Amino acid sequence: MKNLDWQERKDQVFARGMGNIFPIFAVRARNTEIWDEEGKRYIDFGSGIAVVNTGHSHPDVVAAVKEQLDAFSHTCVMVTPYAKAVELAERLIQLAPIEDARAIFVSTGAEAVENAVKIARSATGRPGVIAFSGGFHGRTNLCMGLTGKVIPYKKGFGPFTPEIYHAPFPAEYLGFGSEASLAALDQLFKSDIQADRVAAIIIEPVQGEGGFYPVPDGFLKKLREVCDIHGILLIIDEIQTGIARTGRMFATEYAGIEPDIMTIAKGIAGGFPIAAVVGKKEVMNAPEPGGLGGTYAASPLGCAAGLAVLDVIEKESLCERAIEAGNRLQAGLIKMQADYPDLIGDVRGLGAMVAMELICNGDVNQPNTELTKALTSKAAELGLILLSCGVRANVIRILVPLTIPSTLLEEGLEVLRQAFDACV
Ligand SMILES: Cc1ncc(COP(=O)(O)O)c(C=O)c1O
Repeated sequence: MKNLDWQERKDQVFARGMGNIFPIFAVRARNTEIWDEEGKRYIDFGSGIAVVNTGHSHPDVVAAVKEQLDAFSHTCVMVTPYAKAVELAERLIQLAPIEDARAIFVSTGAEAVENAVKIARSATGRPGVIAFSGGFHGRTNLCMGLTGKVIPYKKGFGPFTPEIYHAPFPAEYLGFGSEASLAALDQLFKSDIQADRVAAIIIEPVQGEGGFYPVPDGFLKKLREVCDIHGILLIIDEIQTGIARTGRMFATEYAGIEPDIMTIAKGIAGGFPIAAVVGKKEVMNAPEPGGLGGTYAASPLGCAAGLAVLDVIEKESLCERAIEAGNRLQAGLIKMQADYPDLIGDVRGLGAMVAMELICNGDVNQPNTELTKALTSKAAELGLILLSCGVRANVIRILVPLTIPSTLLEEGLEVLRQAFDACV
């Protein structure tokens, strides 16, 4: 059956709210390539939105999951736990940039964020949470409230939980830097919520859905100071940036700070639904036994996959490869920018989280949403899965598997170039 026939069938049975970017129905995927129902092959520059950092169906991950499946698929970690959950927690708390840490496992990124906030409120006895404009933290009610992007994540879905506030994110390209953001945060304490009623501040080290804006140098350090002054916990959302994506196991490491809590998901298990919250022992231990969990929390398949993913990252030096891939991608985009300076306003990235921002007439205030849309469609037509993002819907984001062979990286860049040439 053709892709469009499947799309028609999907549209008959799925609610439209759960849309898909491309009418491309996958049948097989390996490392950096996906094949569809029509036998067409695509180079994947999206990794299923930053999930398959170790490539599609990495043989070690598949083998670990098969072995686990032969043993058992579920007993419930809250009833009869198992060694792999303990081992994954041991590995993660050792890798996290937190001195004396504890972990929990849940199933999705949104659930990790929910639990991070629950834990922060329990530990501080305070209700308030401050997030940043343009941030994305998930689709549950609390996470929607934290998210700073209305369409499509919040539109029509309110009311959201009370006691959530937003500070402007320091996106330097948009002319708004650290000092302005910190001043606005200070103003928030004066005008909206007193600082000693704030349980936590949550932030992504590089905004993902919001547009791939990295926090400016030194910003997280300043935020850490603000948190320490007021007894506020700092939650770093590493769901998109974590697990070697930015060239470090966690992007927080670039800032040289210690978060109180970190949320981890996506790349942690190569596509198996498991997520984690890791934080300081005294903070994590605040909730009563039984207050945290879930039927599928710490899924055995996810734990087995997670352990294999961490081994692959080490064995195949994926942090180094993230940097190499990121450098090559940025160089390719900068070359394109030289040819189209009026359309490509900015090329930026951290490790293998690379983006270009599309504008009109060389004006940062004129986001080029049409070109962004046209480019992702054209790329798909030419065999490249390319994602967009941004509050202004004008950013192309590249999230290659960190295992991408250099031949495919070059081929993908070439297709991207052809697609761009065809669109302008
Ligand atoms: C930074 C960040 N936080 C939270 C989430 C939500 O994760 P999930 O979709 O697994 O619920 C995402 C997903 O894109 C994300 O990028």
